[in-house]
Amino acid sequence: MSSSPEKILAVAPMMAWTDTHCRVLHRLFSPHALLFTEMITTGAILNGSPERLLRMHPSESPVACQIGGNDPAELAKAAQLVEAAGFKEVNLNVGCPSEAVRLGRFGACLMVHPKLVSEAVQRMRDRVTIPVTVKCRLGIDQHDSESFLQAFVGTVHEGGCQTFYVHARKAILKGLSPAQNRNIPPLHPQRVYNLKRHFPDLTIVLNGGVTDVQTAKAHLDHVDGIMVGRAAYHNPRFVGELESCIFGTSPTDELGTFEAYLEYIDAQLMTGTRLFDMSKHLIGMFGGHRGARRYRRLLSDATRRNSNDAAVVREAVGYICRTAA
Ligand SMILES: Cc1cc2nc3c(=O)[nH]c(=O)nc-3n(C[C@H](O)[C@H](O)[C@H](O)COP(=O)(O)O)c2cc1C
Repeated sequence: MSSSPEKILAVAPMMAWTDTHCRVLHRLFSPHALLFTEMITTGAILNGSPERLLRMHPSESPVACQIGGNDPAELAKAAQLVEAAGFKEVNLNVGCPSEAVRLGRFGACLMVHPKLVSEAVQRMRDRVTIPVTVKCRLGIDQHDSESFLQAFVGTVHEGGCQTFYVHARKAILKGLSPAQNRNIPPLHPQRVYNLKRHFPDLTIVLNGGVTDVQTAKAHLDHVDGIMVGRAAYHNPRFVGELESCIFGTSPTDELGTFEAYLEYIDAQLMTGTRLFDMSKHLIGMFGGHRGARRYRRLLSDATRRNSNDAAVVREAVGYICRTAA
């Protein structure tokens, strides 16, 4: 794979993880990645407080906002608010297998309702100018053939969706927790490659199990982009490594990046943000370095972190600096 600006590097939507602070950190490692919010339901956007839910720091952009719902009219209204909040893309969740989401009849169970998804995409597109995209699985339960996935993508494309993020495993809707549904059904990246071959004009981004640069490069020979979830969260430096590999950007200096995030923490503390809401995203940062265990232990210390004093973060990174010196 040659470095190409057309390839997509995306950091996956992850509930309770990819909040605004996490995205600021990932952006420091990667100027080009497309970052995703956590899934936000239409109910929360339309009946809750959209200003708070759709809050974004200016440095994060470009960010795709992922929404969850099944009512095309509500999805269209929510998409409008998403665009007004400054997001560059609105993405519909058709992959979440959780019990609550299944009972709400959205997420992965929508894979067996492609016409509804297509209509929702069309209604959203009527209301916004930003791209409307879909994140889905290979299938659900017994609906897991390649022809099923092709029919789903083909129908949703008729509604105007050009870009699909495909988690390369199916979801099993009863009997597995969301975490098990991210590990137990086997990954089939070849099926995502085949999907791209079947729809060469669509943008197909592969998600699932990308934990090293070599695997990412191998996928990029077959699809338009990769989306990385857990590996990006547990080791934010990995996003920087992918950035360098895909876009040819000079590698980031992790201590410099850490300092930049500390400046962000200092500024946010002044506005009343809790330290731990920001420092928790740093816990995986220096894995593999000497001193990383003491660093993690200090950052996780409940008494210190609740003090809302960034000194604890500076002290923690001192363990890394001292051992590296
Ligand atoms: C804690 C957590 C929360 C997640 N929340 C969402 C979500 O809100 N929306 C979504 O589409 N996928 C969600 N996912 C799934 C990821 O986006 C991704 O599809 C999955 O983790 C597989 O990618 P990976 O192997 O690179 O982690 C979540 C995953 C994790 C670990």
